Amino acid sequence: MSAPVAVTPGVQLRVVESADIAVVAGAVVAHAVRNAPEGVLGIATGRTPERLYAELARLAAGGLDCSRLTIAALDEYVGLAADDPRSYRSYVMAKIAAPLGIPAESVLMPSAGVDGARFDDVLAARGGVDLQILGIGRNGHIGFNEPGSAIDSATRVVELTASTRADNAEYFGGDADAVPTHAATQGIGTILRARHVLLLASGESKLAAVRAAIGGAVTADVPASALQTHRDVVVIADTAAAGPR
Ligand code: F6R
Repeated sequence: MSAPVAVTPGVQLRVVESADIAVVAGAVVAHAVRNAPEGVLGIATGRTPERLYAELARLAAGGLDCSRLTIAALDEYVGLAADDPRSYRSYVMAKIAAPLGIPAESVLMPSAGVDGARFDDVLAARGGVDLQILGIGRNGHIGFNEPGSAIDSATRVVELTASTRADNAEYFGGDADAVPTHAATQGIGTILRARHVLLLASGESKLAAVRAAIGGAVTADVPASALQTHRDVVVIADTAAAGPR
């Protein structure tokens, strides 16, 4: 593992072996859980954090008490039933809530049926997100804030880009056309209100997005670049995603 590098005053990059991302990130999350056992943990779905969630399940089995957390998802597809196995609620319940002993009533999901501003109010009423786990899209999206999303955007329904639908086709039998066209997502403004942010990135397909997010200008063209305006972001990436340094 190389030493953490301060990329901006608020953004720190740690480059680790791919296989170590889950353990290093797990230690960061465990620290946050011990500090705020009744706090709000913001979670991403998708491929990147899956091994982190397995690591958290291992830590929970070993005594880390996650059961009193509230978990807040970043996003959810529009048009899938909540119990559809391809819905993010299904992912969250199976891979995070159940293994960590978190009851369904402590799981917050943005949804098309709930006014986005109200979702943001619920987060605020629960004390705000302590630690937000993020992945990053090849196009630089965070949550489903696609390029062009405003830095102060609130939770809302968005249209997914063709590249995002293609990237998620594997969950829909390989058919990009079967991926929902819209999703409810926490806004960039919502994400930036989290006290701490942990962005995970793995693999060469994320290299350009990671470079632009932490090394380029802050621009709506690269939604993750908004994280440069946050004061406490840790990026944990493998060499393929971070590039030579
Ligand atoms: C998922 C989410 C997305 C993913 C991103 C990367 O809740 O908000 O921003 O984090 O699309 O997905 P993976 O990890 O599958 O490459």
